[in-house]
Amino acid sequence: MDGNRRYADRSKIDRRSGHVSGYASLMKTLEACLNLGVEVITVYAFSIDNFKRSPEEVSALMDLVEEKLIALAKETELINKYGICVKLVGNTSLLPEAVQRAGKHAEAVTGHHSRSRLNLALAYTSRDEIRHAVECVRDDFVAGSRPSSEVNQDPHAQSSGRPFQAAIEEHLYTSGCPPVDLLVRTSGEARLSNFLLWQSSSACLAFCQALWPEFSFRHLVWAVLEYQRAKPWL
Ligand code: FPP
Repeated sequence: MDGNRRYADRSKIDRRSGHVSGYASLMKTLEACLNLGVEVITVYAFSIDNFKRSPEEVSALMDLVEEKLIALAKETELINKYGICVKLVGNTSLLPEAVQRAGKHAEAVTGHHSRSRLNLALAYTSRDEIRHAVECVRDDFVAGSRPSSEVNQDPHAQSSGRPFQAAIEEHLYTSGCPPVDLLVRTSGEARLSNFLLWQSSSACLAFCQALWPEFSFRHLVWAVLEYQRAKPWL
């Protein structure tokens, strides 16, 4: 969701309004994706690195995230129509308690759905997620619930990578989701910024100039066509 502040500056509106436009763009894009048959959508809403912004900006953003999580949980028509299960992915213990509560509520009221999934990456970085997964695998091993064959494999031996990989994937925040097919980054930035690095190992990357609040159906279709063009080469 890159470009909310730049959009605010360019449109001469305050930054909060830029982020509110970003949330509106998320809801529009989510429905467009679901209509195109995309079953899992993961959105990078707040990185752990974003906590380095000024305390005023972080606090204003956290208030908005709480407000929007509460609003999202009330989107029952959309949620029921597409069977959306909402999940917070990230180191959620870093979030203020009110945001954690709002997140748990959104997860609880949508948890019975399984047709599609909306992952909200909040307090997320890929390296933190991989650290968490490796620590969980290590703890399972130390507790005796995981055999050494799953953590000690020779990476050169044929077909040996699978159980270790599966053990890590079991503990990623996105556990249960398929690998990423298409990763779209807005605002003309051609970087991954610590987002879904493990899950995107074979993803098609689409970099788009539009700022996130300006991201439209036309941009989404362009990204899907890029994916369709790239897919035979994967
Ligand atoms: C990136 O733009 C956006 C954010 C850091 C926060 C976006 C969060 C919301 C819109 C609230 C979302 C709420 C839910 C429930 C998902 P930026 O601030 O980095 O802008 P820039 O790229 O122009 O600097």
